[in-house]
Formats: sequence, structure tokens, C-alpha cells
Amino acid sequence: MAIATMNNETDTISFDQMKTQIDRALEELAIKHNTFVSEPYIGFEKGFTKISVSIPELSPALIIQCLGIIKDHLEHIRIHAFSDGYYAVQALNKNLFKTENIFDNLKIEFSGLTTNFKIECTKKGNLSQEEINCINALVYKAYSQAKENPVTRLIKHGASVYTDAGGLDWNYIAGYEEVKRTIRESIILPLKNPKVYDSIAEITRKTFETNRPKAILFEGPPGVGKTTIARIIAKEVQVPLVYVPVESIMSKWYGQSSQNLAAIFDACDDIGGSILFIDEIDSLAGSRDQNMYEATRRILSVLLRRLDGIGAISNTIVIGATNRKQDLDHALISRFDQTIHFPLPGEQERASIFGNYAKHLSLEELAKLAAASNSLSGRTIKDLCEQTERRWARKLIIKNLPPSPPPFEYYYHTVKSFIAAQA
Ligand SMILES: Nc1ncnc2c1ncn2[C@@H]1O[C@H](COP(=O)(O)OP(=O)(O)OP(=O)(O)O)[C@@H](O)[C@H]1O
Ligand SMILES: [Mg+2]
Repeated sequence: MAIATMNNETDTISFDQMKTQIDRALEELAIKHNTFVSEPYIGFEKGFTKISVSIPELSPALIIQCLGIIKDHLEHIRIHAFSDGYYAVQALNKNLFKTENIFDNLKIEFSGLTTNFKIECTKKGNLSQEEINCINALVYKAYSQAKENPVTRLIKHGASVYTDAGGLDWNYIAGYEEVKRTIRESIILPLKNPKVYDSIAEITRKTFETNRPKAILFEGPPGVGKTTIARIIAKEVQVPLVYVPVESIMSKWYGQSSQNLAAIFDACDDIGGSILFIDEIDSLAGSRDQNMYEATRRILSVLLRRLDGIGAISNTIVIGATNRKQDLDHALISRFDQTIHFPLPGEQERASIFGNYAKHLSLEELAKLAAASNSLSGRTIKDLCEQTERRWARKLIIKNLPPSPPPFEYYYHTVKSFIAAQA
């Protein structure tokens, strides 16, 4: 049971002055935290001052911190109630043996179980400056402690969060059997069976540390399915995919990008399990521009430290993607447990990719398209199939024909002209 002195009755502040001070403090709070603070109730009822302020949330951790604040401002207090959703603190008389009228002293109540969280203060007569300061400090604490939902924080810091892969599955990616097998073995298996990996590490290591992969690099030319596969992995292991395009974070948050990246890592930990997909990681390697270089250096150092810090306790797994592994900082490359190379599709694979986007064509026709499309990526193949469909659709509309799929010649023509234009 704790303790506090009531201030002298003489040093109380007038009701109007108190109201002004509290109103002003809440306005400053709203600006500082860039948040909405609802208007407090400040009234005088039957000789008692009553103040009620809404707060974003109420947790036992917050209450412990608030008790510390109350102790800093009031000498003798008694904890009146300490139960889920209701906590009350009563200020005592200066002379602890004097118990009469203690309920006229300041009483601070915290309430709310799932919603309508608030701090309410009542006291007979006016409050002292110390008591007003105490109330303001409590409200400040409640607001600064309340963390926004991690997904909201991620979005605020420039990441996108995908919680489903929009109908994507492994069949969506044609070919790439070797890549798929490696990913199943080195990412999916550990993510789905963490306990097996951890118990091995517990037996083998003098000091426990995880043997699960923490960071994996996807490397390969543009349009070969790196991003798509990351989304499929997230769907398969049923964790959110946090997508961070480094380039846009750097340009959008110029100067602040390193803090943003750090905040993104924190929010991922708070989600309690996610795949953090850092795309275009090579943009950290680039630019000679002096100012940009400084920002790049800082963001890189955050990344290096965070990759080191992802240990047994974190359920975040980082996947980095790059088109230019050769340009990446060596310290960065060495932080990745494994690199998975995504090559351009071979001829067989191109035939399967065409098969995904033009399933009505025969195997021979698909083989002809594959032979004609040397060195094209999956993305380009998909684009060419779409172009063909649009060209065909225009023709159907003009000739007023019923829907049908484009014939082989249309595809072949699109591919041939694309290759010719490239040469
Ligand atoms: N093997 C494949 N099978 C089917 N579709 C593919 C294949 N490879 C790529 N694609 C298609 O190409 C598109 C681009 O793929 P994705 O965005 O995943 O490539 P990326 O490797 O991340 O490219 P970048 O390096 O430019 O970010 C996807 O929409 C996907 O549909
Ligand atoms: Mg990509």
C-alpha cells in the first residue's frame, strides 16, 4: 500500500485556470502525437471537481507506469482497486493517521476493458498545481505508450501488407522446379516446423541460437517471379507478407528513411511472425549523388544491424530481392543465410509459361512460341500474351464476333515483332 501528501489547501488553482491548463496540454498532446484527442469532461459537481479524459488503451503495463507518475506528484496514496479494467488510486491525508474525509482528496480512476478507456479524477474543491501536472502527465503517458496497430504502423512507414496472395499458388508459376524445391526445403519447411529445428539447435549448441534461416536473398533478372513467389510463400505458411520497396521508401522518406526502416522491423516483430520482403535491395548499392549517398549509407547500416539482430526470438524472416547482386555491399550479402538464383526461363519453361497464359494452344504451338522467344522473362511473356488478347479483342469487337481465344498466329506474330523490335 502506498502513500502521498495532500498539498496545502492554500495553493490550489482556480477552476478556470485549471481548465485552461488541461485544455492546452491536450491540444499540445494532439499536435505532438499527430493524433485525435477527444475533448475532456471538466466540471464542478456538488462541490467536487471532476475531470474525465479518454485514452487510447489501458494495459497493466500502462498502470504500473502511471503509478510511478502518481508517486512523483503525490506523496501519500493508496491503491484502492487493481482489477482487470478498473484501477483506482486514492490520495491520503498528509497525516496518515488522520483518516476522516480522505474521500475528499484526489481520487484517480482508470477504467475500460475493451473500449471507452478513460482516466477520471475527482476531488473536493480545487486542484493544486501538482495535481494538475500529475493528471496531464498521466494522459501524456497513456497516449505515448499506446502503440498503434502494427499493420497501421507498417503502412504509415511505406510498407504494404498482404495477408492473402489473391488466388496465387505454386501452379501460377510455370517451371522453375529447382527454385521451388529449394524454397520448399530452405524456407517453407523451417517456417512450418520451427520446433524441430529449434530442438536440434538446443541439443547441438552450447549457447542456444536458431538454426532456421533468417534472411534469404532472391537474385535474378527482372520479371522472373521473385516477388510473386514471395507472396506465394507467405500464403503457404499463413503469415502476412510485408512488402518494402526500398527505392520508394528512400525517395518518399528522404532523410528519414533509416528511421522508417527501423520502425518497419519493429512493427514486423510486433505482428508476431511475418515475411519481410525487401525489394530492390540493390538501390542501396547505387547512386553517387552525395546527399543520397549519406541516406543510403544510413539505411544500409540499419539493415545490417537489424539483419544481425534477427535471432531466435524474432519470428520475422527477411527476403531480399535484387537484380544486381554483384553491386551489393559485401557486408550485406554476407548477412543472408542463402541466395536463391532465379534464372531467365529456359525453352521448356517458356513453353510452360506460355501454357499458363494461353492454355488453349497445342503443345506444338507452345513449343514454337518458346523457340521464338529466346531470353524473354516470364513477365515479358505474360505481357505479350496480354497484348495478343487485346489485339484479338479489338478485332472481335470491330467484326461483331462472339468471344473466342486468339489463334496461334496472333501470338506468334506478337512474339516475332517484339523480338525484331529488340534486335
Ligand atoms: N515462371 C512463371 N510462370 C508464370 N508467370 C510468371 C513466371 N515468371 C514470371 N511470371 C509473371 O511475371 C510477372 C512478374 O513477376 P514478378 O513481379 O514476380 O517478377 P520479379 O522477379 O519480382 O521482377 P522484378 O525483379 O522486376 O521485381 C508476374 O506477374 C508473373 O505473373
Ligand atoms: Mg519484384
